[in-house]
Amino acid sequence: GVRLNRICCIGAGYVGGPTMATIALKCPQLEVVIVDMNEDRIKRWNSDELPIYEPGLMEVVKACCGKNLFFSTDVKKGIEEADIIFASVNTPTKTQGVGKGRAADLRFIESVGRTIAQYASRSKIVIEKSTVPIKTAEAIARVLSANEAAAGGSKNFWILSNPEFLAEGTAMKDLDAPDRVLIGGQDQDAIQVLADVCANWVPRDRILTTNLWSSELSKLVANAMLAQRVSSINSISRLCERTGADVKEVARAIGTDSRIGPKFLNASVDFGGSCFQKDILNLVYICQQFGLEECAAYWQQVVDMNDYQKIAFTSKIIQSLFNTVTKKKIAVLGFAFKKDTGDVRETPALMVCDMLMKDGAIVHVYDPKVVIEDALTEFKYHDLEVNKNQLIFSKSPQEACDGAHAIVVVTEWDEFKTYDYKSLYDKMMKPAFLFDGRNMLDHAALVDIGFEVHALGKGQIKSSGGQSQIPDFVTRAGSGLLSGGYSP
Ligand code: NAI
Repeated sequence: GVRLNRICCIGAGYVGGPTMATIALKCPQLEVVIVDMNEDRIKRWNSDELPIYEPGLMEVVKACCGKNLFFSTDVKKGIEEADIIFASVNTPTKTQGVGKGRAADLRFIESVGRTIAQYASRSKIVIEKSTVPIKTAEAIARVLSANEAAAGGSKNFWILSNPEFLAEGTAMKDLDAPDRVLIGGQDQDAIQVLADVCANWVPRDRILTTNLWSSELSKLVANAMLAQRVSSINSISRLCERTGADVKEVARAIGTDSRIGPKFLNASVDFGGSCFQKDILNLVYICQQFGLEECAAYWQQVVDMNDYQKIAFTSKIIQSLFNTVTKKKIAVLGFAFKKDTGDVRETPALMVCDMLMKDGAIVHVYDPKVVIEDALTEFKYHDLEVNKNQLIFSKSPQEACDGAHAIVVVTEWDEFKTYDYKSLYDKMMKPAFLFDGRNMLDHAALVDIGFEVHALGKGQIKSSGGQSQIPDFVTRAGSGLLSGGYSP
């Protein structure tokens, strides 16, 4: 029985911002208000410098902001006036107490429940947009109903789960044409209200409805399965380096099997990002809570493999540079956890830079979107000390590479493919090393220029002309003879 015209979203972050901007764009009849307690963030949403970078986001925000899309710090008003309320707050891994390092920290979600209980003046639909552990809806419902009962009220709260499957870097495309929208709930009418909103632009057959718990769990499982593919191919990349197989060739060969499929099979330094690791750890914790130790161990291994890959990659850099990088300038291309985002949460660059700096290197980072302040915040969050003389953010790739002993590609920004590597090479120390942590550059061409190239999951890289300097009989003798630089 809700006639819907106002939507409020609590949490103006990477998910709240793009999702609500898309709803505003697709549903001009609705008014969408995004509230956040972070004043600075709200200020930036209302400016020309949005707090997050996503291709296409600026255009949509510009088109709707002030018309039917509003950003505000007035959480109370946002809740009072809305018919449906999305909770899109952060759900990080707990850093202390019970479940530390694994369990999801639900304090923000809980505070949303309490705030809604405090300010709601009538019945509302409350939607979990955040990724949450299974059964969180029950906790929110209890907070709401207990407060309602204590206040002697008779308002109703319908809880829905509507996890978000967007990927940073392609968020606007993903939201515009999602593979599916998932809505879980106990009340069919409430489910229908949200389904009708989405049906403004999403085909009905892509709007899946399930019970609450399936919906909550599906988001964790989706991320666990995606991360598992990355860890699986990364584990194979290690084996490829030792054996002469090429992980790209292997990925292509297996990806053509329709049961496996070609996507998400790129070997890399690690999967990075704020979600995969925390969601898997969360899944591990939930399994443990239910006494499913073997299931927990299975998923834990996906995270362990990810950690191992970063260490293996960086160890190889240090070993190749004659086992020391002390006082050596190392150019790191990319700091964001993936291309087309400025997000550095859980970026592999963190561990790579940290290991290099601990070994004495002077790291010069170039990233088209990331500024040093964001990087330092992330180092601090992980209790990693940074000596300011060892971490420099350069304004251009030229500046980062000038006089460097090695180039390390960490993020797969498209522009890294377009650089004039010959001129970068000319100004580097010799031998000039290049470590491609994304397997994205033309390795044979780089070898032709003179680089010593190390790519993930690939043995010795020969020049494009096939005119190897190495006599045939040595190559034929097997990789063991040549593997000096490859094995961590
Ligand atoms: P975020 O940290 O960028 O944004 C969360 C915002 O909520 C912050 O600005 C914070 O100030 C605000 N907030 C927290 N508690 C509040 C309260 N009580 N009242 C008002 N504002 C409050 O987080 P992000 O990345 O947007 O993620 C949000 C949720 O969505 C998480 O659960 C995450 O797992 C999930 N998710 C994230 C995806 C991503 O690509 N970042 C993709 C899919 C899901």
